[in-house]
Amino acid sequence: MTSKAPTTTTEDDITAETIRRFEGTPDPRLREIMTSLTRHLHGFLKEVQLTEQEWFEAIKFLTATGHKCDDIRQEFILLSDTLGVSMVVDLISHRKPAGATESTVFGPFHRPGAPELPMGANIAAADKNGMPAVVFGRVLDVAGRPVAGALLDVWQANSEGFYDSQLPNADELQMRGKFRTGEDGRYVVRTTRPVHYSIPTDGPVGVMLNATNRHPWRPAHIHFAVSAEGFEPVTTHVFDSIDPYLKSDAVFGVKDSLIVDFQEHPTRDKAAEDFGMEPPFVTAEFDFVLKRRA
Ligand code: BEZ
Ligand code: FE
Repeated sequence: MTSKAPTTTTEDDITAETIRRFEGTPDPRLREIMTSLTRHLHGFLKEVQLTEQEWFEAIKFLTATGHKCDDIRQEFILLSDTLGVSMVVDLISHRKPAGATESTVFGPFHRPGAPELPMGANIAAADKNGMPAVVFGRVLDVAGRPVAGALLDVWQANSEGFYDSQLPNADELQMRGKFRTGEDGRYVVRTTRPVHYSIPTDGPVGVMLNATNRHPWRPAHIHFAVSAEGFEPVTTHVFDSIDPYLKSDAVFGVKDSLIVDFQEHPTRDKAAEDFGMEPPFVTAEFDFVLKRRA
């Protein structure tokens, strides 16, 4: 019997044959993804002429990335973030009409169980050394009308630059809370002024950043996930306009529309009275604009 197998198999033959094997994939979207993935992955290998030693290093790196993950540490999200993948996927997934609040990277530090708090509550009661801050504004639709019953899920690093899950008492929820708007769409959150912080560098992502001479800093920000019945939810940040890392965020998450001025209140003034704050403190005003579901 004569074999039909080719006697010479080139790199391009392998690529073509791998793509051919995906032709029978019943789900057309999965077929499209696997075909394109094969084409780009093989193209990358050929472009850099990857050696066996380098491929083995890559497998060791990905294995270590998996081993670093557990219930509260997600090294793969961190890898996706630092490779710019999360933000490219974000931009593809959330094309907003002009005026709607832009989304940004979700990050690995959200925890689902944050308590729903009364409007104006302080999420930073345990953060004794931070500058007290009031973040306030409205949740609106794109026509500027208030959205009642919107849920704002807020989370933030403390003034030392750590999320609660990175602290020794990691089980305790800190610097987190959920707030629900009333008829006027207004929200008020008491917290501490955010600070820039280093993403975790004690795992494979840190090794990658170090080897490529990249810094691990994220500019100061507060995370918000805002949702309301009948609207597309938005996951975003509010960034502090004075932060030195706005132009070099380690995870590419900054968008101009999300940068706000934190106003300083060194002495007793109207804001101190309105919010019941003891100076010194800062305030930041930001309106979230939601797009109605199609
Ligand atoms: C964060 O902002 O919490 C974050 C986002 C991406 C990577 C690491 C941290
Ligand atoms: Fe963060």
